[in-house]
Amino acid sequence: MVNVAVLGYGTIGSGVVEVLQTNTEVIAQRAGEEIAVKYILDLRDFPGDPNADKVVHDYDIIDKDEDVQVVVECMGGVEPAYTFVKRALLNGRSVATSNKELVAKHGAELIAIAHEKNINFLFEASVGGGIPIIRPLVQCLTADVIEEVSGILNGTTNYMLTRMKEEGISFEEALKEAQEKGYAELHPEADVEGYDACRKIAILSSLAFGQQVDFEDIYTEGITSITAEDIRYATAMNKSIKLLGNSWRVDGKIYAMVCPMLLDNAHPLSGVNDVFNAIFVRGNMVDETMFYGKGAGKLPTASAVAADVVDCVKHTGKNIKILWNPEKLTLSDLGDFER
Ligand code: HSE
Repeated sequence: MVNVAVLGYGTIGSGVVEVLQTNTEVIAQRAGEEIAVKYILDLRDFPGDPNADKVVHDYDIIDKDEDVQVVVECMGGVEPAYTFVKRALLNGRSVATSNKELVAKHGAELIAIAHEKNINFLFEASVGGGIPIIRPLVQCLTADVIEEVSGILNGTTNYMLTRMKEEGISFEEALKEAQEKGYAELHPEADVEGYDACRKIAILSSLAFGQQVDFEDIYTEGITSITAEDIRYATAMNKSIKLLGNSWRVDGKIYAMVCPMLLDNAHPLSGVNDVFNAIFVRGNMVDETMFYGKGAGKLPTASAVAADVVDCVKHTGKNIKILWNPEKLTLSDLGDFER
């Protein structure tokens, strides 16, 4: 039996508990051992919740319990998530996280600690919710030189743009719907200003190019200036407006940006609607690949986190090597790029 501690019992954390407790049997078969949730760390109590007895408010309780083998971090934000995750790894526990802020900022360091300790730091859910993209990028496409990673990386804004187009509703109404569905971040400006997509393209770029890409260096523009009129014009021209994250390599130079783009209806990303994300990866050998699925939401995202937990258990005592050099990669000026 492997014991897991889940940090954060919000939308994703409670989803991870639900996945582990619903698919217990199949998960045990695939992991080779039963996986049980022993602790849930949260500031709140959850009276009436079937897992209320597992809730603790002090990370020290988890830290001191040697029966906890895997820590799941779904708190979001950099602190205190970074402190707890680092402590867990330094204490020899593998960690699975959905936290893109944490991974974008400290991924290289946390991967290095896991490597040194022969454990794992996995973060499949940090990009694209339930879509397998991190594992394909670092494992299946590992024989390729990656030339481009681009796509729709934020479910909230894609849902909003879809609703604004299909129903003619306002930006505010669309945002309210996305929040009600549990897609949006706690502070929705992270979605609508493009910051969330920026963290995600920073992670994908760091993995694709093997070196730290700082999110602060990525040109980022969200959808707050997109009006209902813009959407009507785009539709009249047989086009769609999509918020895209792009990074690509040309002549040894690497470029990255996040911004709304006008896509022809024939473009494969144009038909990606609602909360769905799609990520396009081009390698020098494999050529074009595309990954599609629900980029946000409780169970799709929790499914990716729980899969990382299974991988942590399957690889007990063996580090899954992820190449992410902490040395900062300098991006080329977008102004220098001509397409
Ligand atoms: N707010 C994020 C999104 C959640 O809408 O894509 C998943 O990272």
